[in-house]
Amino acid sequence: MTKYIAVSNRRGGVGKTTTTMMLAYGLAVLGYQRVLVIDLDAQASTSITLMGHERWRLARDHSKTVGDLLIEMFGDDHVDVTPFIAPQVGDVHIMPGARRPILDVIPSSFELDNREREMLIMGGASGPTIDAVFDKLQLSVARLIRSLEGHYDIVLMDCPPGLSNVAWGAIRAADHVLIPYVPDATAEDNVGWFTRRLLDLDPAKQVRVLANRVRPNSAFQAGIIDSIANRHTSLGLQMPIRAAIAGALEFRTHSQPIRSKFGDGAVVVERLMSCMLEWFEQSTTRRAPALEEERL
Ligand SMILES: Nc1ncnc2c1ncn2[C@@H]1O[C@H](COP(=O)(O)OP(=O)(O)OP(=O)(O)O)[C@@H](O)[C@H]1O
Ligand SMILES: [Mg+2]
Repeated sequence: MTKYIAVSNRRGGVGKTTTTMMLAYGLAVLGYQRVLVIDLDAQASTSITLMGHERWRLARDHSKTVGDLLIEMFGDDHVDVTPFIAPQVGDVHIMPGARRPILDVIPSSFELDNREREMLIMGGASGPTIDAVFDKLQLSVARLIRSLEGHYDIVLMDCPPGLSNVAWGAIRAADHVLIPYVPDATAEDNVGWFTRRLLDLDPAKQVRVLANRVRPNSAFQAGIIDSIANRHTSLGLQMPIRAAIAGALEFRTHSQPIRSKFGDGAVVVERLMSCMLEWFEQSTTRRAPALEEERL
C-alpha cells in the first residue's frame, strides 16, 4: 500500500520544503523506497530544487505541472497522470553497483494559484454553495493524489503556506500529516490550532510534529519544544539549525553522494528517514479516506 504524507503548516518558512526534500532523498536513496514528491506550492521551490531550473522550465513551458494536471482532471478522473511525472530527479549520485533510487516529482509552477482560481470558477457554475465548490475542488485534488496508489511506496506532498483548497486537498488525501515548526513564541498556538483542525476533519488522521531550526543550548526553544511535545506526538527528532541543511536546497548540475550534498546534515537525513519508517510501522492500517462528493 502506498503511504501518503502531507508536509504542512499554515505558517510560512518553517521548513516544509526542506523537510520534504530531506525525506525524499532519505527515503529514496537510503531507504530504497519508491518515492514520488508532489509539489503543491506555487513558489515551486521543491520542483526547482529537485529538477534544476532548466528541466523545470521545460515542464512548465510544456504545461506538465500539477496545476495543468488538476485542470485536466477537474471533472474527468480518467486523465493519464504519467506525462506529468518528471522521473529520476535530484542531484545525488549513487555508488557503482548500488540500486538506482526511484525519486520522481510532479512539479508545481507559479501559475498554480491561477489554476486554482480557474477551477473555482468552473466549479462555481455547477455548485449551489461556495462550500460545495470548495469541497469539489479539494476532493478533486485528493482523488488525483490517491490515483497513484500502488505506483509508489511513498507519496510526499509539499504543501504551501496558508490553507488553500489545494492544501486541504492534499491533507484530505494524506494518511499522515507531518507538521514542521520553528519553536518560537507563536508556535504552540499555531501547532495546536492546526492539529485540532486536522483531527476535526478526520479523527483517524496520523499527525506528528517536528521542531526545526533548533538552536543548541536555547532554553527558550527547549521550553517551547517540551510544551508542544506534552500535547502532540513528535516525530522523534529535532532538526538543528545548520548551514549545510540550508545549502541542500540548492540544485547542483554535478551530482554528488548524498553525504556530501547534506554535509553535517546527512545524519539528520538518516534519522528523519528512520523516524518516518518507524512511524509507518506504528500506524495501524486504515481505510482510504472517503473521497466521494456529497450528492449536490
Ligand atoms: N534546519 C535548518 N537549518 C538551517 N536553515 C534551514 C533549516 N530549515 C530550513 N532552513 C531555511 O529556512 C528557510 C525556509 O525553509 P523552507 O523553504 O523549507 O520553509 P517552508 O516552510 O517550505 O517555507 P514556505 O512556507 O515559504 O513554503 C530556507 O531558507 C531554508 O534553507
Ligand atoms: Mg515551502
